[in-house]
Amino acid sequence: MEIRKIVVIGAGTMGHGIAEVAALSGYQVYLVDVAWDFLNKAKEKIQESLNKLAEKGAIKNPQEVLNRITLSVDYSVARDADFAIEAVPEKFEIKKKVFESLDSVLPPHAIMATNTSSIPITDLAEVTKRREKFIGMHFFNPPVLMKLVEVIPGKYTSEETINVTVELAKRMGKVPVRLSKDIPGFVGNRILLRLAQEACREVESGEATIEEVDAAARNLLKLPMGVFELSDYIGLDVMYDLWTVIVSRGATDVPCKMYKARVDAKELGVKSGKGFYSYPAPGKFVKPQVPNTTKVDPARLISLAVNEATWFIENGIVDAKGVDDVMIYGYNFPKGLTKMAEELGVKRIYDHLMDIYKKGYEAYKPTKLLEEIALGKRSF
Ligand SMILES: NC(=O)c1ccc[n+]([C@@H]2O[C@H](COP(=O)([O-])OP(=O)(O)OC[C@H]3O[C@@H](n4cnc5c(N)ncnc54)[C@H](O)[C@@H]3O)[C@@H](O)[C@H]2O)c1
Repeated sequence: MEIRKIVVIGAGTMGHGIAEVAALSGYQVYLVDVAWDFLNKAKEKIQESLNKLAEKGAIKNPQEVLNRITLSVDYSVARDADFAIEAVPEKFEIKKKVFESLDSVLPPHAIMATNTSSIPITDLAEVTKRREKFIGMHFFNPPVLMKLVEVIPGKYTSEETINVTVELAKRMGKVPVRLSKDIPGFVGNRILLRLAQEACREVESGEATIEEVDAAARNLLKLPMGVFELSDYIGLDVMYDLWTVIVSRGATDVPCKMYKARVDAKELGVKSGKGFYSYPAPGKFVKPQVPNTTKVDPARLISLAVNEATWFIENGIVDAKGVDDVMIYGYNFPKGLTKMAEELGVKRIYDHLMDIYKKGYEAYKPTKLLEEIALGKRSF
C-alpha cells in the first residue's frame, strides 16, 4: 500500500511535530485541530523549526515543506488520506470521538494510528469499524529530533497494517521498534518508570540523596540527565500519571511517596519552577548541580530497569536490540540498556535485585532470564 497523504489530528506538542516530520519526508499533510488559534500557533512553531533546519543546512526550502501542510478545523479534509495519526489529549472519550469521526470520513483503505502513551490500543480500535487497520504509533518528544517510534499492534491489527506503519516510520527517518503486543507503558515509559522507582526507593530508604542518584546517572552511566532531573523535565504530574496508569494496568508497584507529594504541593518540575530541584522561573530549565562523586552503585540504579528488559525479552515483546534502540533513540542513552548491564556485570545486577527483593520489594524478583544470564548460562 502506498502512502501519499497523511492526516494528523491534534496540532499540540506532538501533533505539530509529527506533521512537520511527515512534510519533511515529502508527504502531503492535513493537520486538523478544533480551533484556528491552535492551528496558527502550530504553523508558527513548524515555521520556526523549519527555519532552524534551513539555517543548519539540513533543508533547502522551508516554504516548500510548509506548503505541503494544509491546516483545517474540518475532518472532511481527510477524505483522501491514506494514513491518520491521532495526537489529541490523553482522554479516552476525546480520542473515541476523534476516531468515530475519522472512521466515517477516511477512505476504506486508510490506516488509523494513535500516539497514545497509555490507553489500550485494542480499546481504541474497538470504537472503529476497521480494527485490523488500527495501530499504536508512539512518537517521542520532540518528534522532529527524537528518532524512536514504538509501533504497537492491538489485538486485531493485521500484519499488513504493522508492516505499512513500520515502513512509514522508516520513510519518516525514524527508528521503529515493533512490539509484539500492547503492554502498559510500552517499552520506553516502562523502563523509565523502573528507573524512577529504584531512584525513589534509594532516596526514601536513606541509601542516597536525590543529587547522589543523579550524579550516578550522569557521571557514571553517562545518561544525558539524572533520573530526578529527567522527571522534573518531563513534568512530575505526567510522571505520576504514567506511574499510576502502568501500575493500575498490572505492573508490580514499588512504594514511593516523593512524586505524589510534589504533585500535591503543585511542584511539577521545570514547568512550575520547582520539583525535585529549583529552577530560575517556571518553564526555564537550568541543569541542576550534582556532586562529582557518589556512593550510588550504577548497577543498582539500573537493576530494576534491566530486570524489566529481561521480562520484555522473556515474553517476546521485543528483543534485546529493541530494548537498546528504545533507550538510545527515545531517551538519548549513550548505549543500550542491555549493553550497560553487560558492562557493569549482570551478576552484580542480580545480586542487587536479590538484596532488595529480600527486603520485601516484590517487583525486584529477578526474572528467570536474568538469573540465567547472571549465571552465564545465556546472554541477552
Ligand atoms: N507530550 C509528550 O511528550 C508526548 C509524548 C508521546 C506521546 N504523547 C501523547 O500524544 C498525545 C497528544 O499529546 P500532546 O502532548 O501533543 O497534547 P497537547 O495537549 O499538546 O495537544 C493536543 C491537541 O489536540 C487538540 N484537540 C483536542 N481535541 C481535539 C479534537 N477533538 N480534534 C482535533 N484536535 C483536538 C488540542 O486543541 C491540542 O492542540 C497524547 O495521547 C499523549 O499521551 C505525548
